[in-house]
Amino acid sequence: MNAIFKRSSVRQFTDEPVSIDDIERLMRAAMAAPSAGNQQPWEFYIARDETTRMALAASSPFAGPAKKAPCVIVVCRRDEEGLRFPPCAPFDLSAAVENILLEAANIGLGAVWLGIAPSRDRIAAVDVALGSPRGVEPFALVAVGHPQHRPEPKGATRYDETRVHWI
Ligand SMILES: Cc1cc2nc3c(=O)[nH]c(=O)nc-3n(C[C@H](O)[C@H](O)[C@H](O)COP(=O)(O)O)c2cc1C
Repeated sequence: MNAIFKRSSVRQFTDEPVSIDDIERLMRAAMAAPSAGNQQPWEFYIARDETTRMALAASSPFAGPAKKAPCVIVVCRRDEEGLRFPPCAPFDLSAAVENILLEAANIGLGAVWLGIAPSRDRIAAVDVALGSPRGVEPFALVAVGHPQHRPEPKGATRYDETRVHWI
């Protein structure tokens, strides 16, 4: 899949907004992810207003790209009730985040995963920024926008045949 090898983390964005159609496309990609027992433990909050994005950017020392990105997707985990395999929720949510990153690269947008979970401090700060919605816990941020600078993709150069063990 070409998007895998053309993706790199984009942290600098132009001022151009991300269209509603493109955001919806990213959400469709996110929810196409596999999940344990098909439990789909996700909820997504789309932050575009400056006040919320600034609060999200302050939630972690490494969340600076949320300031400049016109759109920040907050990926949240649903409460455990209703989940078939709660310990698997972080894996499911990670698959959803990766799908967002790949689809963003595929349609010419830039994006970066900003880590929130498992840091309790970061989770609490994002929760406050969202207005403490009930029944969800923040998992990760994805800053999305039109790239001002797209770093050279390094993924393809990471192949290391010594990490592959043929049995
Ligand atoms: C779980 C996770 C958390 C991350 N958190 C951050 C972050 O807080 N801030 C950031 O700028 N990049 C973050 N990244 C992006 C990584 O730094 C990046 O993927 C890595 O350096 C490889 O570069 P590439 O994505 O361009 O291939 C995170 C990535 C993952 C998978």
